[in-house]
Amino acid sequence: MTTKTPEDFASAVETLRAALRAEVTDLAEIGAVTLPRVKLSTRAPVEPVAGPAQAKTPPAPTSAGPGPGAAPPGRLQILQQETLGECTRCKLHRGRTHIVFGVGNPDADLVFVGEGPGADEDRQGIPFVGRAGQLLTKMIKAMGQSRDDVYICNVVKCRPPNNRDPEPDEVEACEPFLKAQLEILKPRVIVGMGRYACQTLLQDRTPISRMRGRWHTYEGVDFMPTFHPAYLLRSPEKKREAWADLQLVMKRLAAPSGPPD
Ligand code: URA
Repeated sequence: MTTKTPEDFASAVETLRAALRAEVTDLAEIGAVTLPRVKLSTRAPVEPVAGPAQAKTPPAPTSAGPGPGAAPPGRLQILQQETLGECTRCKLHRGRTHIVFGVGNPDADLVFVGEGPGADEDRQGIPFVGRAGQLLTKMIKAMGQSRDDVYICNVVKCRPPNNRDPEPDEVEACEPFLKAQLEILKPRVIVGMGRYACQTLLQDRTPISRMRGRWHTYEGVDFMPTFHPAYLLRSPEKKREAWADLQLVMKRLAAPSGPPD
């Protein structure tokens, strides 16, 4: 066994502090914790002190999601490549760079459904990779999962111009593919993000502020409506409510299969 020096110990403490600061900052960003009014980044560095030998903290595991070209296997792949194909069923195909089909674990217990791709998603062919997507990624991480554990998709698979809401004919053309996706995935829980996804899937015009936080059912699957991450970026005071919704989801997933509370 190699002997650890005080410098090793100080370095391990600094690594842990940086990791903790990053975790707490992420949790604060999604509304899961409220940070005390101290500037964590301006803390004095730890002086090297003699102490017991400390193991170095292992590097955080990295999770590289599937690239734009990586197709999900099996029935999803057939749906994507053969049934949907290079879709021209609605006018959104004219302005798109990529079809944004969906990414994640085809055996996921948890599926997130958004509205439709934005500019970043259109460019990369992957859902939720822009600013709203980065917030969603942090929310998923705070739930103890990664983007590779869950599945993420949208109501429409091509970007509406200028990020406008999808129009009824576009939803009509694309919704069968979302339905087929969800039927293949058969998750335990679906999280609908934002008014558009929730109202479309539930066929319910109730405002999202009244729909959220309560269990609904979509084709026999537990469905939790919550705020869209893009809305949370504009209205950060709503993050706490969104986090409360996700805590209900975590509780539901931790419980044995059965009806929701
Ligand atoms: N907003 C959505 O609804 N979906 C995305 O993929 C990105 C932003």
